[in-house]
Amino acid sequence: MSRKKLIIPSILLSNFLIFILLGFSAATEDEQKEFFIVYLGDEPVINNVSAVQTHIDVLSSIKRSDLEAKESIIYSYTKIFNAFAAKLSKEEARKLALLDEVLSVFPNRYHKLHTTKSWDFIGLPITAKRNLKMERNIVVGLLDTGITPQSESFKDDGFGPPPRKWRGTCGHYANFSGCNNKLVGARYFKLDGNPDPSDILSPVDVDGHGTHTSSTLAGNLVPDASLFGLARGTARGAVPDARVAMYKVCWVSSGCSDMDLLAAFEAAIHDGVDVISISIGGMSADYASNAIAIGAFHAMKNGIITVASGGNDGPSSSSVANHAPWLLTVAASGIDREFRSKVELGNGKIVSGIGVNTFEPKQKLYPIVSGADAGYSRSDDGARFCADGSLDPKKVKGKLVLCELEVWGADSVVKEIGGKGIILESEQYLDAARIFMAPATVVNATVSDTVNNYIHSTKSPSAVIYRTQEVKVPAPFIASFSSRGPNPGSERILKPDVAAPGIDILASYTPLRSLTGLKGDTQHSRFSLMSGTSMACPHVAGVAAYIKSFHPNWTAAAIKSAILTTAKPMSSRVNNDAEFAHGAGQVNPEKARNPGLVYDMDEMSYIQFLCHEGYNRSSLAVLVGSKSVNCSSLLPGIGYDALNYPTMQLSVKKKQEPTVGVFVRTVTNVGPSPSIYNATIRAPRGVDIVVKPMSLSFSRSSQKRSFKVVIKAKPMPSSQMLSGSLVWKSNRHIVRSPIVIFKPLD
Ligand SMILES: *[C@@H]1O[C@H](CO)[C@@H](O)[C@H](O)[C@H]1NC(C)=O
Ligand SMILES: *[C@@H]1O[C@H](CO)[C@@H](O)[C@H](O)[C@H]1NC(C)=O
Ligand SMILES: *[C@@H]1O[C@H](CO)[C@@H](O)[C@H](O)[C@H]1NC(C)=O
Ligand SMILES: *[C@@H]1O[C@H](CO)[C@@H](O)[C@H](O)[C@H]1NC(C)=O
Ligand SMILES: *[C@@H]1O[C@H](CO)[C@@H](O)[C@H](O)[C@H]1NC(C)=O
Ligand SMILES: *[C@@H]1O[C@H](CO)[C@@H](O)[C@H](O)[C@H]1NC(C)=O
Ligand SMILES: *[C@@H]1O[C@H](CO)[C@@H](O)[C@H](O)[C@H]1NC(C)=O
Repeated sequence: MSRKKLIIPSILLSNFLIFILLGFSAATEDEQKEFFIVYLGDEPVINNVSAVQTHIDVLSSIKRSDLEAKESIIYSYTKIFNAFAAKLSKEEARKLALLDEVLSVFPNRYHKLHTTKSWDFIGLPITAKRNLKMERNIVVGLLDTGITPQSESFKDDGFGPPPRKWRGTCGHYANFSGCNNKLVGARYFKLDGNPDPSDILSPVDVDGHGTHTSSTLAGNLVPDASLFGLARGTARGAVPDARVAMYKVCWVSSGCSDMDLLAAFEAAIHDGVDVISISIGGMSADYASNAIAIGAFHAMKNGIITVASGGNDGPSSSSVANHAPWLLTVAASGIDREFRSKVELGNGKIVSGIGVNTFEPKQKLYPIVSGADAGYSRSDDGARFCADGSLDPKKVKGKLVLCELEVWGADSVVKEIGGKGIILESEQYLDAARIFMAPATVVNATVSDTVNNYIHSTKSPSAVIYRTQEVKVPAPFIASFSSRGPNPGSERILKPDVAAPGIDILASYTPLRSLTGLKGDTQHSRFSLMSGTSMACPHVAGVAAYIKSFHPNWTAAAIKSAILTTAKPMSSRVNNDAEFAHGAGQVNPEKARNPGLVYDMDEMSYIQFLCHEGYNRSSLAVLVGSKSVNCSSLLPGIGYDALNYPTMQLSVKKKQEPTVGVFVRTVTNVGPSPSIYNATIRAPRGVDIVVKPMSLSFSRSSQKRSFKVVIKAKPMPSSQMLSGSLVWKSNRHIVRSPIVIFKPLD
């Protein structure tokens, strides 16, 4: 019998139910209308009236009347973008796109969502040096599922009023008590107007994801946090004195739509956040049609760094999302703690599995049965997966059940019909601990076979699952689910950028949802464990805010460079995909505060890069906000990748002769002066790497120095990757850039 496994990773990894909605919402007799986003130029010069009226005017030129135009506009973006969202037929969208003043028209799509100890583990102890005066002026913005205002992580004891620059707002909403001096902004965006039956039209967090990410980023110190005694410690964010602003764009059953994402980016930029953290899936490889890439580009123009999760679609190659070069893309790593449960069989044999099971056994042993033997009929294939409706309650009552994993929730199924718990067999996703609502644990096929053989070798088999314990494991390592490179959008830019803890992270949770969200679960906790690149992202956003509190005028690119060039290299021994799994390595907060040199970039650098990548006037328009960019009249971006990126990636194409890439880079001195940096190169076998010059000297601060890296790689087999590095070393600083050479799949 084939062992069919149908597991949806995003459900495992974010506790988030996803029902992707189609963009359809209304149907007239003859044509279906969908939501579209229509981008106009950044300067609304079409008409000498308000931008909103301009939007109506543009739309009425293809509609029958002003009134009809007014009625089909859902939202006008006027603060940062000049755009509107409207319900249109495909024909109307096509006509609009042909208008001179319209840059582009895109259909609205729906995206999915992709502590304590983790900060100590990566080297940001409670005692780390902090710049409290500046930290209090930092506002971090999150685009997520909402927030829990009454959580201790967001209490404002000891906080003064928000910084003067802050323009954000917050009101009272259903189940939402309003903001305070810690939680200084909270809004929601639900432009499609379709009520979400599982959510509340309010910034309140019904899912738990947004409360968790916000508290990881900037939550207060909360001593004695735990999940029923597990993972006990002081919960805290990277910048506990910073303020939080939540922009709710993700809804429990409908996901996160482009229209809402853009509105939230606009609000966050206008409100004056310092850092944006976004743990939501990106979609297309084309930056000009991706709401997150577009929003983040405008954030970058306004000096705001956007940190994004790389996705939970690993270990497949080229699965990394949110890979635009102006985003900081985060992979998920594991810390040195695993949650294990022992299972003792009636014959005295002890095996072990992974998962969070907070239940103490009430009996010494329970009878155990295999799901495959407990169905209504032998022929029901669902029984071995303990699928809903397939098990005979008479055969399960009072027993533990051995099930194969198909979809999560077998613990709820078995409990509902009187069973006592489950042992779940899975070959995948064994690095993150799932929370269960009944005694349960996840075992691999070897252990499952042991249990199954025991069940079938004795007359009255029995077993017991013990409460979960924390076990120390070797770390860091990259999560199997963490999305991998190479970058599907630009083969000359290494992604993900950096790794941070994203497995079994303890942080604040919502009271509005049980721990599992499953039917019959009555477990609630102020803190919960979650896994995913969603959890890794706010760690790095927190480090970005931490750096910003020391260097308030650094650009988004300088902050990113500081994080990348100081990351701890990770061992390729435990990470087969090397840089394609972890980028520059594990984020290293205290080192990132003081990197010595930075690779800086501005808006024009990215435009030159995009021209070099083959973008043109029309495909750039949405990012730049006008059709005025003429790539052929710009100074060309120089070198192989045409960007001053802090890492280097060469794609080998040639079959017979060597491939040569000349990378041109400029570093800015942000460390002491005078100082001298010498280059150290590590070249993999078959690759020559030469740096010119080999030494850089700086006599003053902010001074820039340029250099060239010439990489010459021999032909190599398809899909192979090699790792090298360039390190600039002074007496005080180590500035490291990983170098990746790879051959794309033929
Ligand atoms: C635009 O409006 C301003 C006042 O709102 C007015 O002074 C100006 O003449 C107008 N320009 C045009 C071209 O209508
Ligand atoms: C939200 O508030 C309403 C009115 O106060 C209340 O009836 C409802 O139970 C609340 N919902 C949740 C999920 O707490
Ligand atoms: C299965 O799990 C057990 C217990 O954790 C472990 O000792 C064993 O190495 C695993 N086997 C495989 C093939 O991974
Ligand atoms: C930031 O401020 C420092 C000192 O005030 C100055 O030397 C530096 O040039 C500034 N950097 C930028 C990017 O504005
Ligand atoms: C610009 O780029 C787009 C997308 O790559 C392409 O479809 C279009 O033909 C290009 N236009 C010109 C004028 O090259
Ligand atoms: C773009 O710039 C080039 C070089 O300056 C020029 O020859 C060309 O006419 C320009 N194209 C447009 C559409 O303005
Ligand atoms: C850099 O190289 C120069 C010349 O080889 C040497 O004198 C100097 O000590 C080196 N500096 C560092 C920090 O390694």
